[in-house]
Amino acid sequence: MVRKVTKAIFPVAGMGTRFLPATKSVPKEIMTLVDRPLVQYAIDEARAAGITEFIFVTSRGKSALEDYFDHNLVLEQDLKSKGKDELLEVLNATNMESGAIAYIRQHKALGLGHAVWCARRLIGDEPFAVMLPDDVISADKPCLQQMVEAYEETGGNMVAAMEVPNEKTSSYGILDTGQNVGTVVRAKGMVEKPKPEDAPSNLAVIGRYILGPSVLYNLNQKKKGSGGEIQLTDAIAEDIGNGVPVFGYKFDGQRFDCGSKAGFLQATVSFALAREDLREDLNQYLHDIVSSDRAAQ
Ligand code: G1P
Repeated sequence: MVRKVTKAIFPVAGMGTRFLPATKSVPKEIMTLVDRPLVQYAIDEARAAGITEFIFVTSRGKSALEDYFDHNLVLEQDLKSKGKDELLEVLNATNMESGAIAYIRQHKALGLGHAVWCARRLIGDEPFAVMLPDDVISADKPCLQQMVEAYEETGGNMVAAMEVPNEKTSSYGILDTGQNVGTVVRAKGMVEKPKPEDAPSNLAVIGRYILGPSVLYNLNQKKKGSGGEIQLTDAIAEDIGNGVPVFGYKFDGQRFDCGSKAGFLQATVSFALAREDLREDLNQYLHDIVSSDRAAQ
């Protein structure tokens, strides 16, 4: 029997320069998708998967993130006294239980592998999840929950995987899979951001991982990889060489790259269209602008 996954690491130390000037004073993870901060989507997904301990790897300038997860007693009192029960419920759903959330600082931007390694003492000797909040996944069953269920059968390490166009391989960790059939694919190797001509496949790693503590031991060596950074992909790939299996999990759902402006906008439209209170107006608006655009051409 594999050990239950109850801890998740959220690497959120990045400066979010692609979203300047917004990110000059607001952490990227607090930017809103419809009316919820990006990070709330990741937290909800983690909770659905049974995660009870949330570890944020942060950096200077991210204090708004800590405030966001704090109870806002003044606001709570205000809503209560005005009988605004629905809003109170929305607010309460964002509160974290005392002691459930921890913040670790990554003092130097040395890469994703290094960020994960910074949380090693809080993980100890058990499996853990890593969630990159930039990757927002809309799915009937939340992606990490799908993975946890599959992981209970496989053990080892598991990464979310998705096929990407060949010319995009240099933006992702890429799996070397041999036979690529079924939902769970065993990897023979993994490479970080290979050029299309060097890529072993077009099956890319998306920002959801379930990893064993051996990956943290591998990270202890602090080997530099692609871009001169300490890469999580390399530490996972090292496990394959040591006989620990790595599985790509082809999740059911739609992934949005909210680390890019285009992806963020697409996610905004898609999530808004999924909301009953917004669907009709937005649909009409989109229809109108597309028609007037066509008419102008
Ligand atoms: C990171 C990982 C990469 C993965 C990607 C998924 O890259 O290093 O292996 O495919 O996330 O979004 P980043 O996008 O941070 O450059």
